[in-house]
Amino acid sequence: MELVAAVQGRRSIRRFKSQDVPKNIITEILEVARWSPSWGNTQPWDLYVLTGKTLAKFKEMNLKKTLAGTTSASDVPMPTDWPDAMKARYGALGKVVLSAQGIKRDDKEARDKYYQTMVSAFDAPCLIFACISRDNLVEYQMLDIGLIAQTICLAAHDKGLGTCLLASTARYCDEIRKIAAIPEDKKIVVGIALGYPDSAFPLNNFERDRMKLTEFVHWME
Ligand SMILES: Cc1cc2nc3c(=O)[nH]c(=O)nc-3n(C[C@H](O)[C@H](O)[C@H](O)COP(=O)(O)O)c2cc1C
Repeated sequence: MELVAAVQGRRSIRRFKSQDVPKNIITEILEVARWSPSWGNTQPWDLYVLTGKTLAKFKEMNLKKTLAGTTSASDVPMPTDWPDAMKARYGALGKVVLSAQGIKRDDKEARDKYYQTMVSAFDAPCLIFACISRDNLVEYQMLDIGLIAQTICLAAHDKGLGTCLLASTARYCDEIRKIAAIPEDKKIVVGIALGYPDSAFPLNNFERDRMKLTEFVHWME
């Protein structure tokens, strides 16, 4: 796939087909991703690829904790507030995600149901947790994780697969560590759902919004 088409065509996929992704395909995606740049080529990442029974255990745990209203215990603090402009974009996304599914804002039951699919990784057959070292954590490692995460998403898209980066899967990190045998010294940053997209699902098709260049590019000539 042509690079620009891949960058512009990748989008978050929020419903997957039940079809499993063969291990060799996941491996091919990760083979591409390992060429991602990092600070001083430190490659500070570890990736934990959950499928099958391990993934089922994770989904059960994340849903159970969510339904019980358990307070998030993420390794990376979840943002609670944003500057106004970002808050507006976040709010706009929330609205379009509901309206694309025909869910009314006041329909709490339908909203909760959707939220439950999200914490279940949108039923993806594969979930990759991107981790960094807990000790000697420097902020640049977070940038490096972002770079490899984007490369995974693009390489998956290139193969006709879909992804969704999901902070909502990285909320109960001590439990995840137990389920996926992630060592204590690893910090779980984000989960990446991976699978074959259900292209007919409206939430995989709504029109997305981005700032214009004039809103965030500052030319200093
Ligand atoms: C760090 C990070 C965490 C995210 N967590 C979630 C999430 O928990 N649930 C969700 O539906 N989307 C999540 N997303 C996806 C974003 O909402 C999405 O990337 C953004 O709306 C842009 O849309 P696009 O990916 O379709 O271009 C996350 C994205 C990032 C980068």
